[in-house]
Amino acid sequence: MLRFFTLQAEWFRHVWEVFVVDRPYEKGKQIRSYEIMDFLGAGGYGMAYLVRHRSSGERYVMKQLRPSSKKNKQGLRAHQNEIDMLSQLHHPAIPTLVEQFEWQQQEFVVMAWVEGATFWEQIFEQGVRYSHAEAFQMLHKLLDIVQHIHQKGIVHRDLRIPNVIVHEDRLFVIDFGLACKQDDSRPFLWEQTRQDPAFDPRKAPFCQSDHYALAHLVLFLLYSSYEPAANESERSWQEELGLPSRARQLLERMLQVKAPFRSTEELSTEVENLIKNHMDDAQNPSTPPVS
Ligand SMILES: Nc1ncnc2c1ncn2[C@@H]1O[C@H](COP(=O)(O)OP(=O)(O)O)[C@@H](O)[C@H]1O
Ligand SMILES: [Mg+2]
Repeated sequence: MLRFFTLQAEWFRHVWEVFVVDRPYEKGKQIRSYEIMDFLGAGGYGMAYLVRHRSSGERYVMKQLRPSSKKNKQGLRAHQNEIDMLSQLHHPAIPTLVEQFEWQQQEFVVMAWVEGATFWEQIFEQGVRYSHAEAFQMLHKLLDIVQHIHQKGIVHRDLRIPNVIVHEDRLFVIDFGLACKQDDSRPFLWEQTRQDPAFDPRKAPFCQSDHYALAHLVLFLLYSSYEPAANESERSWQEELGLPSRARQLLERMLQVKAPFRSTEELSTEVENLIKNHMDDAQNPSTPPVS
């Protein structure tokens, strides 16, 4: 019975937080020198808005720590982490940090706005399809940005399709709330980690965690053009996608099923080689976005 009441209380707290405490600001709301133009979305700890600077008219993205996460150490840490990481990264494919401030007891960070659509929006809302060759070309472009992040000694740890923006032929990486410093004090020991059931391949402070996440991202792009045959039962991605063996092996190494790449440079070189010698561009031509 006590458990029933505890569950009920939890449920009410959750509903209260989502609909009352964390209700996003309305369009037109003025926060310091910014005016809210649109609500972009809410993640675990933050809410993102497209805003306009009132005097310059420039657009920016403003992220607010969820009011319900203000007393939550993890939430505060993610918010501050994003600020720390953005302040260390200076790259044309990573939003520039503009400012951070507290306003009416709420925490905000303002960064450059990136025009375009995330891979998630492209695939699930616009119906964009990627051919095998295009998916690996995207991976190669992403690795250019990820190499910069890794050279700065940072692991992103959240390289998923809603966190990459595509604009024309350029890619941008956002959302550094889960990023961390690379652990340079010890090597990444695959032989050990694969025996450890508690090991999380997405969260370890090594570049290989980003390789792992990028393999999943590429699988999303590859599956965007996959059409299962009628009555076909589900098979593994290795069987379903029919990739050239070199491409399959590359993804298996990224996913740590086989010995992982030692560095992001090594991975990038292998992707370049794959695109040049093993991918056939005529296969699965891409489709234009559905309007
Ligand atoms: N700098 C930016 N430029 C354009 N859109 C952005 C930017 N930052 C975030 N967004 C949009 O807001 C969404 C949520 O932001 P994100 O940083 O991923 O936070 P979280 O996933 O932690 O809520 C993104 O998926 C993207 O659509
Ligand atoms: Mg995100």
